[in-house]
Amino acid sequence: MICRWNCSKNKIRAVSGMAVLSMVGLLCGCAGQTAMQTETEAADGLISVAFSEVGAESDWRVANSESMRTTFTTEKGYEFYFEDAKGKQENQITTLRNYILQGVDYIVLDPVIETGWDEVLAEAKEAGIPVIVVDRMIDVEDDSLYTAWVGSDFNKEGEMAVEWLEEYLNEQGRSEEAITILHVIGTQGSSAQLGRTAGLEEGVAERENWEIIAQVEGEFTQAKAYEEVSEILGQNQEIDVIYCENDDSAFGAIQALEEAGLTYGTDGDVIIISFDATEAGLTACMEGSINLDVECNPMHGPRVEAIIGQLEAGETPEKNHYVEEAYFTPDMLTEELIASRGY
Ligand code: AHR
Repeated sequence: MICRWNCSKNKIRAVSGMAVLSMVGLLCGCAGQTAMQTETEAADGLISVAFSEVGAESDWRVANSESMRTTFTTEKGYEFYFEDAKGKQENQITTLRNYILQGVDYIVLDPVIETGWDEVLAEAKEAGIPVIVVDRMIDVEDDSLYTAWVGSDFNKEGEMAVEWLEEYLNEQGRSEEAITILHVIGTQGSSAQLGRTAGLEEGVAERENWEIIAQVEGEFTQAKAYEEVSEILGQNQEIDVIYCENDDSAFGAIQALEEAGLTYGTDGDVIIISFDATEAGLTACMEGSINLDVECNPMHGPRVEAIIGQLEAGETPEKNHYVEEAYFTPDMLTEELIASRGY
């Protein structure tokens, strides 16, 4: 277990069981940050918010963690706990159990995958701790196991990409042409993967001349996408579109295309579709390397804070809240617009 930030400076604590906590606290200079102290601070009026984050696999994820971290500050009356699951659901389940033992006021969960949450969330419910799910969704038998969810409509993101591709091909006079698509899949079983994949697969099923020629695991990272796309390009270079399920995997695909000597983007042969619309993704889009970047907004800190505010006021927040999102093509982008978005 790693204390990821300078705890005293950033007021962030990594929690891994009360016993281990004291020991690690000593190791990373967070001495004395125990459940006992949480209770003391709660008596001082601080609200303890304990976040279980997916990992740090992408630029999007880093922006998401930062949004939470800068929202739940001591100055604003919060005691913020953070744990990076390194992409593993079992780590999140351990973290949640530790948060429950610790008796935090709120648990915030960004789940790696959708299934497998019933048992641990029943334990949180039993302990009377509200669980707010953020970004990705969970698939549970009993909806009362979580208090509220806020995040993206990943299916809609996929559908937007497919509709844009159809229009783009029409404009190029290629609507009747056979179109080959290489699909770079995100973390299997995550809502972001399931929705974006469904959007593409349904779109392809409805269009006779479109074909997914290969599906490879990009795991939402540049390194894995680069490795997988390079391997495909070693066997087959007849690819019209690479559908990358996030910006980091689009960068991996672009790296592989460059190495293979293939052209891409607005002035090249291969159409690049991406998701997230991070600062780096949109910059690449503005420069023409990415043809389409569908937005997935990571700034969830203030949204979760609003839900907690409602709960603190005795109100019932909306159960499921989809964030409005758009898409971007090169002609829509300027440096000012990109800089104004904050991630
Ligand atoms: O759940 C959101 C997805 O997770 C983002 O698209 C991706 O970049 C991240 O890793």
